[in-house]
Amino acid sequence: MSKIVRVGLVGYGRVGRTFAQLVRSQREALLASIEVDPRLVLIRRSATQAEPGGMVGDLAWTEAEPLSDAVTRLGIDVVVQAVPSSAALVQAARDQTLDAMRSGANVVTATKSHLVEYWPDLGDAAIAAGRSLRISAATGAALPAADLCRRGFRAFPCRSFRASLNGTSNYVVGQLRRGLSLDDAIAEAVARGICEPNPVDDISGRDAAMKLVLLANLLWQPHHRLSDVVVDRIDGDELRELVAEAERQDLVLCSVAKADGDTSPALRVGHAMLPPSDPLARLRGAEKAVEFDLGLGGTAMVSGGASSPEGAGLALLKDVANLATGDGGLGFA
Ligand SMILES: NC(=O)c1ccc[n+]([C@@H]2O[C@H](COP(=O)([O-])OP(=O)(O)OC[C@H]3O[C@@H](n4cnc5c(N)ncnc54)[C@H](OP(=O)(O)O)[C@@H]3O)[C@@H](O)[C@H]2O)c1
Repeated sequence: MSKIVRVGLVGYGRVGRTFAQLVRSQREALLASIEVDPRLVLIRRSATQAEPGGMVGDLAWTEAEPLSDAVTRLGIDVVVQAVPSSAALVQAARDQTLDAMRSGANVVTATKSHLVEYWPDLGDAAIAAGRSLRISAATGAALPAADLCRRGFRAFPCRSFRASLNGTSNYVVGQLRRGLSLDDAIAEAVARGICEPNPVDDISGRDAAMKLVLLANLLWQPHHRLSDVVVDRIDGDELRELVAEAERQDLVLCSVAKADGDTSPALRVGHAMLPPSDPLARLRGAEKAVEFDLGLGGTAMVSGGASSPEGAGLALLKDVANLATGDGGLGFA
């Protein structure tokens, strides 16, 4: 017998809309493969909400009620959150997550900012409410790095990993190597839909720093905060100079994030000149990667994974499907 999962979606922008479409397009496949039947019963935007029933196309928007009321009234099993990861929305994103869990729903999120700011509070609240919090979409969209950090290396003596976590930065640095100016490279990334019109978090390193914290927190305790990450900031001119200097030395400039539990600072985001044979130097376009040092287990690497609304939507749906099929660790576990 199939398991119906009643889903409430908070945030109906690029990622939220894609997720809603995926719920429809992947429903038959999920039913056939794992007997999970996701039903989208609520969609919320910043001030309004709609109850799609079977159809997402023709939504009747009404004033939003408190999320906890909607979760209880509609019997929502999972709240899927896809609101901006901006500093301005940290509190709102945290409150949504707490309200959803305390009203009885698990939470699957693509939003990063409240996770890095309130990691222990959210984890503790989830455990107290007997709920799960899943964050695949917040840690690299289609790149399944969160699954590896959460469960894939349990009992492995993994003390460090290095990564390239921001697809936009990788794309932009790649275009600088081809001789474009920073503005033109960003404009091209925007035109190709790789990033939003003002990718300030991508270029400043904030997005990579947030993902670095989230992956480190899934792997290790005690938890880290965004303020623990040293971000080596450089401006556009310095970046172009570094790209040119790397080329003179037959090296490749890459955006690199490092987490090393044995050094101080443990977390760092910046650029590095790498030999062309280095796996991080061989990433193409907006690809990302994480390479784990597993001690006795050798090294393991995951790379690729689209940084896109489609990649994020699929990661959200994967977390929903896994929760419905027994991946019931409380909190982030
Ligand atoms: N885009 C990607 O490729 C990607 C990949 C991985 C992760 N992410 C993450 O996914 C999240 C969503 O990204 P996006 O590109 O879909 O953003 P977006 O297009 O800007 O959409 C944001 C949505 O959130 C809604 N919203 C804002 N404040 C809200 C509130 N307080 N309560 C309820 N809804 C609220 C907005 O409502 P209105 O419609 O009323 O404005 C809008 O529907 C971000 O945190 C981002 O970092 C994105």
